Amino acid sequence: MKLIFCPASATRPRQRRRCRCSGVALGAAFGAAFCVAAAVSAVAQAAPLDVGRTLFRTNCALCHSAVAGDPPGVGPNLHGVLGRDVATLPGFTYTPALAAVGGSWDAPRLLAFLTAPAEFAPGTAMPFAGLKSERERRALVCFLGGDAQAEVCR
Ligand code: HEC
Repeated sequence: MKLIFCPASATRPRQRRRCRCSGVALGAAFGAAFCVAAAVSAVAQAAPLDVGRTLFRTNCALCHSAVAGDPPGVGPNLHGVLGRDVATLPGFTYTPALAAVGGSWDAPRLLAFLTAPAEFAPGTAMPFAGLKSERERRALVCFLGGDAQAEVCR
């Protein structure tokens, strides 16, 4: 929890709305408003695994399940993809482009793929532009690996 100090000018109703007190307002004292930014700092400090889970839901779940045993969607099931050989999940038909990549998915390769899938595997059928934020890419790979102690989760 973090105590946020808002300047005295922000205690007037119209300006208060502009003050970045997005948590619980504790009220005005000594001509200044204080508030507890509990919600804000909770998001900033969320563990990478949780951030990754949320990012997966908003960016990937449309096409992929990460639940063991689920059938493929538009894309293959990603449960256990970290460490799996590229383009080898039975029951899913991959493009020759992805199949040609070879090897297995380790963290650096997944990070590179998620930066720009079409550059990592030109011709891939994964219609996803890529994630610009390194922090978000790492959080996603952390989630896919499922091990909060992994280097990519730090
Ligand atoms: C609009 C659909 C779509 C979205 C959104 C999408 N993917 Fe995919 N993904 C695919 C398809 C289709 C493939 C198979 C590509 C091929 O065969 O070229 C794929 C393949 C993959 C693979 C390779 C899996 C393997 O078995 O080798 C990974 C890893 C992957 N996606 C991760 C992600 C992640 C992480 C996200 C979210 C950031 C995401 N994808 C978003 C459709 C999607």
